[in-house]
Amino acid sequence: MRFLVTAGPTREPIDPVRYISNRSSGKMGYAIAEAALEAGHEVILISGPVKLDPPRDAKFVSVSASDEMFDAVHRHADQSDVCILCAAVADYKSAKVSPVKIKKRAGNLSLELVPTRDILDSLGRGQNRRFLLVGFAAETNDVEENAVQKLRAKNCDIIVANDARLGMEGDENELIILFRDSEMRKISRASKKILAHELVKIFSEFATKTFDKKNVMITERN
Ligand code: CTP
Repeated sequence: MRFLVTAGPTREPIDPVRYISNRSSGKMGYAIAEAALEAGHEVILISGPVKLDPPRDAKFVSVSASDEMFDAVHRHADQSDVCILCAAVADYKSAKVSPVKIKKRAGNLSLELVPTRDILDSLGRGQNRRFLLVGFAAETNDVEENAVQKLRAKNCDIIVANDARLGMEGDENELIILFRDSEMRKISRASKKILAHELVKIFSEFATKTFDKKNVMITERN
């Protein structure tokens, strides 16, 4: 199968030397890419700026701002069987990007922020989508409830929810996996590498089931 994985944070520029970003390390996304390769899948890894080496056998696309990640994902999604959006995409960007460094002045400075485009939501809205769509939900409270809402709102097949405080920078995580049909699985605290292997197994099984169903439908119609 062909896996597309997004990972890491995005950087939303303010001026040539400043940006808005977050604490995402990229470790979970990179571990998923690695695990998918080890399981014999093809992998495209689309990553924001992180301090990790990309897996050698992955096709690697390096991006910075959310708009670049949006374009890269849309270029490759339709050729993928499983799209896993693990990146911590910034929700807001500066309304204006100054071409020169903003100088310090007396008094306060306000920055106008506008929403970024939601990549997961844009893929979920696609008509006749032929790939399994997996989103991540990083929450600090009401993890399960918020994740169920995201699954429905963004029309994903699976949402992997985790506690943002545990998951963002560390090497471990614990996960709640929510499926479209309301099935739920929990994976207790483990290294991101171990979790990634479990996730890849779950995604490829689910994708196989879904694609088989689609093939049956096509056969019946013919
Ligand atoms: N996501 C995305 N594009 C964005 C924001 C988020 O594709 N502009 C994706 C993330 O990659 C993740 C999922 O949406 O798969 C959920 O991201 P998260 O930050 O948990 O949720 P938000 O929708 O941003 O909502 P909130 O920050 O209010 O919890």
